[in-house]
Amino acid sequence: MGPIGVFDSGYGGLTVFKEIVRKLPQYEYIYFGDNARAPYGSRSFETIYKYTLECVEHLFRMDCRLVILACNTASAKALRSIQQQNLSAWSPEHRVLGVIRPTAEVAGALTRTGHLGIFATEGTVKSQSYILEIDKLFPEIQVWQQACPMWVPLIENNELDNAGAAYFVEQSVGRLLAQQPQIDAILLGCTHYPLLYPLIRRHVPGHIQLIAQGELVANSLADYLHRHPDKAALCRKSPVRTFYTTETPEVFDEKAALFYGEPVQSRHFEHD
Ligand code: DGL
Repeated sequence: MGPIGVFDSGYGGLTVFKEIVRKLPQYEYIYFGDNARAPYGSRSFETIYKYTLECVEHLFRMDCRLVILACNTASAKALRSIQQQNLSAWSPEHRVLGVIRPTAEVAGALTRTGHLGIFATEGTVKSQSYILEIDKLFPEIQVWQQACPMWVPLIENNELDNAGAAYFVEQSVGRLLAQQPQIDAILLGCTHYPLLYPLIRRHVPGHIQLIAQGELVANSLADYLHRHPDKAALCRKSPVRTFYTTETPEVFDEKAALFYGEPVQSRHFEHD
C-alpha cells in the first residue's frame, strides 16, 4: 500500500487536492508541485509530456500506485501518452488519472442552451481535449474555448488584486462571450483559476454559471475508488499529507496556503 499522489505544475492542483482531502480524508496523500518549472501552460507538447512523466515517476518511486494529474494542461497533453507508453514499465497496479474526463462527464448538467464556455491555458485549448471529450459524451453541446495565457503568471505571482489582473480577466471574458453570446455556463478549465474566481465572477454576467472543477474531480475519484475496490485497497489509510515542491519550500509554503486554505509545510524535491 502507498499514498495517493496528486500532481500539478505548481500551486493550482492544491485547489483540487483540498477538495479531494475533504471528500476522502481517510487516505494518505503526497502532493507534488513542479513549481520550479511552472507554468506549463504555454510549453510544447514534448516538454509538458517529459516534465509530467518525470514527476509521475517520482511519485511512483515514493510508493504511490495511483496518481492524479490535478492539472488540465498535463491531463490534456501528457495523460494519454503516459497511459499508453509508460505505464507498462511499471506494475499493472500503477494508474494515472486526469481531470478532464471527470469534468467532461458533468458537462451535460451544466448548460441549458447547449453552449458551454471554457477558460484554460493555451496548451489545454490547443489540445482540443475538452471539445473531444465532451463531444463523445454530449454531442449536442458546443464548447467555446478561450485561452488565458496571462492568468497563471498573475496567480503564481500573487498579483490578483490589481488593475493588471482586472484588465486581463475582462479581456478574456469579453473574447469568450464574443464568440458565442448564448453561453450560459463557463468552466474554469485550469486548476489555478479558482483563485481568480471573485474577479472573474465580477466580469461574467450574473445569469452565467461559473464552475470550478475541484469538487467534480473529488467526487469522480471517490466514485472510481468505490467501483475499483482492488485499487482502493492499494491506497494507504492515514492522516498524513506530505507536500513536495521543486521550488524553495519557504516560497511554496507561503503561497500554497492561499490555494489549500490552510498552512502547508513542504519539502524540497530536486530533479536529477
Ligand atoms: N494548473 C494547470 C492547469 O490546470 C496549469 C498551470 C500552468 O500553466 O502551469 O492547466
